[in-house]
Amino acid sequence: MTLFWSQIARELSPYVPGEQPRIANLVKLNSNESPFGPSPLALEAMRAAAADTLRLYPDPEAGELREALAVHHGVRPEQVFVGNGSDEVLAHAFVALLKQPKPLLFPDVTYSFYPVWSQLFGLDCEIVPLDDGMRVRVEDYRRAAGSIVIANPNAPTGIALRRAEIAQLLEDHPDIPVLIDEAYVDFGGETAVPLIADHPNLLVVQTMSKSRALAGLRVGYALGDAGLIEALRRVKDSFNSYPLGRIAQAGATASVRDDAYFRESCARVVAGRKAMAQELIGLGFAVLPSSANFVFVRHPGRGGPEFAAALREHAVLVRHFNKPRTAPYLRITVGTEHDTQRLIAAAAHILGHE
Ligand SMILES: Cc1ncc(COP(=O)(O)O)c(C=O)c1O
Repeated sequence: MTLFWSQIARELSPYVPGEQPRIANLVKLNSNESPFGPSPLALEAMRAAAADTLRLYPDPEAGELREALAVHHGVRPEQVFVGNGSDEVLAHAFVALLKQPKPLLFPDVTYSFYPVWSQLFGLDCEIVPLDDGMRVRVEDYRRAAGSIVIANPNAPTGIALRRAEIAQLLEDHPDIPVLIDEAYVDFGGETAVPLIADHPNLLVVQTMSKSRALAGLRVGYALGDAGLIEALRRVKDSFNSYPLGRIAQAGATASVRDDAYFRESCARVVAGRKAMAQELIGLGFAVLPSSANFVFVRHPGRGGPEFAAALREHAVLVRHFNKPRTAPYLRITVGTEHDTQRLIAAAAHILGHE
């Protein structure tokens, strides 16, 4: 079967995405998707874009979307790059910026795609352990490096660094590219975007998959100095000139312009997270302090894999990462109130609290 594979394909250890199964009555809390739908204005814009014009290629520069994002984030359009989900934007950044003669630094517990891209693109990387509280310590990054990538809030811990700590990291490393992956920043983190003006080496990556409930559309973006954005464009135009279709551009643009809906749904997720954490603590779980749309929890009485499997029996799907430091934990996405009730009822049943 592997007869025709390239050496690259043979040697890869691909990222394993969260399960997307078809189970009746499933409570799906394993992929950090939004429990609420996208902005109604975004849906309307996408319906309008599903038209005869689809026979034409989309704008390769996604000009309107980049302008809307520039207005939203207070930067210039040439400081914005968009791609097919932030995964694609991150992958381009690994090639365009992070691949340097010296190693790329990232935490031992973080987004598990970083080691995958490092392998695919042949980056030398150096892993920096989180501290005992599962926190990133920027002091630990004071070492020789070619580039740095940090998810803030981190995944799967949900723990956020303050903007002042990112500023410190940038002060420590003015001469190398520093990428801050802000996939979850809208749920209580402090964005590093205001630091872009003074730091031409800072790239901030965000996504529409979480806080804008558009995971199915695949839109992510990067903000940074125009020089960094130009490097991303060079890679994009060496790979796929049209990463975002007409429907994606229309929906994403309308979503960015609907600030009221965005703020309201983020606030609902944050309220849901607080309620869910409280209930889990009530059942004896240890809950790491989350600034994301998920919580990272462990129960002193049960192992992570065992608990995840038991919840699955109750049609409640959560994520478990079977690596030494993360094995005792479950990552649970904030769902609707009903989802939380189902989760808590199932967990209580498993723990014999009924
Ligand atoms: C830290 C982090 N970055 C990036 C992504 C990618 O998101 P997307 O490709 O949907 O924009 C994820 C998705 O789970 C994530 O957890």
